[in-house]
Amino acid sequence: MEYPLHVKHNRIKQWVNEIAGLTKPDTIHWCDGSQKENDELCEVMVQSGTFTRLNPQKRPNSYLALSDPSDVARVEERTFICSKNRNDAGPTNNWVNPLEMKKTLNTLFDGCMKGRTMYVVPFSMGPLGSKISHVGIEVTDSPYVVVNMRIMTRMGKPVYDILGDDGEFVPCVHSVGLPLSKGQKDVTWPCNKDHKYIVHFPEERSIWSFGSGYGGNALLGKKCFALRIASVMARDEGWLAEHMLILGVESPKGEKTYVTAAFPSACGKTNFAMLIPPKALNGWKVTTVGDDIAWIKPGSDGRLYAINPEAGYFGVAPGTSEVTNPNAMGTMKKNSIFTNVALTPDGDVWWEGMTKTPPPHLIDWQGKEWTPDCGRKAAHPNARFTAPAYQCPSIDNNWENPEGVPISAFIFGGRRTNTIPLVAEAFNWNFGVYMAATMGSETTAAAVGATGEVRRDPMAMLPFCGYHMADYFNHWLNIGRQIKNPPRIFSVNWFRKDLEGNFLWPGFGENMRMLKWIVERVHGNASAGESPLGWMPRYDDIDWTGSQDMSSKQFYDLMSIDRELWKEEILLHEGLFIKLFDRLPKEFGLMRDMLLSQLWRSPER
Ligand code: OXD
Ligand code: MN
Repeated sequence: MEYPLHVKHNRIKQWVNEIAGLTKPDTIHWCDGSQKENDELCEVMVQSGTFTRLNPQKRPNSYLALSDPSDVARVEERTFICSKNRNDAGPTNNWVNPLEMKKTLNTLFDGCMKGRTMYVVPFSMGPLGSKISHVGIEVTDSPYVVVNMRIMTRMGKPVYDILGDDGEFVPCVHSVGLPLSKGQKDVTWPCNKDHKYIVHFPEERSIWSFGSGYGGNALLGKKCFALRIASVMARDEGWLAEHMLILGVESPKGEKTYVTAAFPSACGKTNFAMLIPPKALNGWKVTTVGDDIAWIKPGSDGRLYAINPEAGYFGVAPGTSEVTNPNAMGTMKKNSIFTNVALTPDGDVWWEGMTKTPPPHLIDWQGKEWTPDCGRKAAHPNARFTAPAYQCPSIDNNWENPEGVPISAFIFGGRRTNTIPLVAEAFNWNFGVYMAATMGSETTAAAVGATGEVRRDPMAMLPFCGYHMADYFNHWLNIGRQIKNPPRIFSVNWFRKDLEGNFLWPGFGENMRMLKWIVERVHGNASAGESPLGWMPRYDDIDWTGSQDMSSKQFYDLMSIDRELWKEEILLHEGLFIKLFDRLPKEFGLMRDMLLSQLWRSPER
């Protein structure tokens, strides 16, 4: 095999050679990450029908891809953590013995790239050369993956300079799992309809993905590396790899405070990361560092510093509009890839929620004619945009700072009709960890006015933690013991409803009022009252400037803590704890009892 001159790393050469020997591609392309390479790959995909070039006047240098209807989302049931010891993966992950899984993978990958090109994609998660960053190499037979990885990561030749001849990298092997025989015509979205495997070997720190070309199944830097494998690295090395957005809050005096926030999927994370404060809160500004993942390491001053390991956003398109998130709309104006959205007659994109009135005629995400009365959705509910972070109008000045940004608060939230108040500050680190570990989110199909099914999703990490969830809780408690100046921990819930099923809180820009209180708490500038769940703002502790319709009665409805509901809630916590019993931190039982005892005091208001 011939290797490019700039690749001096023998282990990479050997590994690529080995994977090529197994997968048997027709050719190998070592990606350099250049614009020229990108343009050529996009052109190849336009020719093959994978990409539609969008109208260059409306959406310069942007493309639309429509996937196979069987390949539209992450496949949690086909995601495996193959640690040597079953119990190290824990009861919330799928596990297969690594030796057995390797046999399966060797069979699946044998010749799986025949008739295709194998691309070697070097990428850095985080700014090149930062002490918080880590490097991966993905080999893939999907040009769609290559051009997406170029947006989502720092991809290309300079990564080899960082690695030198012996640097550490996470090997990631990806195949769409559809080899082509001689002369066989390719389909526009190759994937394997029968076999999908998203496999992690935590001890080896390696990733193998087969059969899907979509999102987190295929862009292996994101959920597979930056969360599942990185969470294991973080446990071993004393840092945190979290499913969190990172944002900066700038006060009118120019004081900057950075916070992170964890929410399960479909709770408006990208909107919160790009929040635009209400006009009346003059001079307050929110800037965006990241919208999905945070890597957080201790600094020499005893604080925690975070980077966004990604370089782009892979955001859910439906529901995103100039009203809900103008910053996201601004980010994807050009140089973007759209997947499974609808195509307008003038060569632009559309999805549900983008405009109040849908266009009269579209091509939908399955390539079919669409009209507003046809009874089908024009875009798939999990349709995505891939857009470069530097194009975000609210991007933070420090988003590429290799030192990271100092974190002052961790915010945890879920979608809860009742039970969880609008905002609360944990009494201390351990209680905050308990709150985050017991966090839940309702399925959005909940019947109007009724409580939906609550899925426990500790720290929004349930599908993304690469090891036993209870060990993960212990790791969080340990970090709190080691850090001199740990961030404060807050919980929020934007989704409370009244008995008729109406949202009690307007959300979006109004969330700034809670964020302002959080930031002021961190700086010792806001007061609060004690509650069973921690410190909570009273009506007068929140800045309501310019808000017409939040009475103190409405606010206290949003903040109420119902003892009967909390009895049920604590039983639900038990459900999770029993599952994780063998490794559960002893502190959690004590904290549950403290919580119960606090709930039993007489109501305050
Ligand atoms: C995502 C997710 O796509 O959390 O970010 O599912
Ligand atoms: Mn996510």
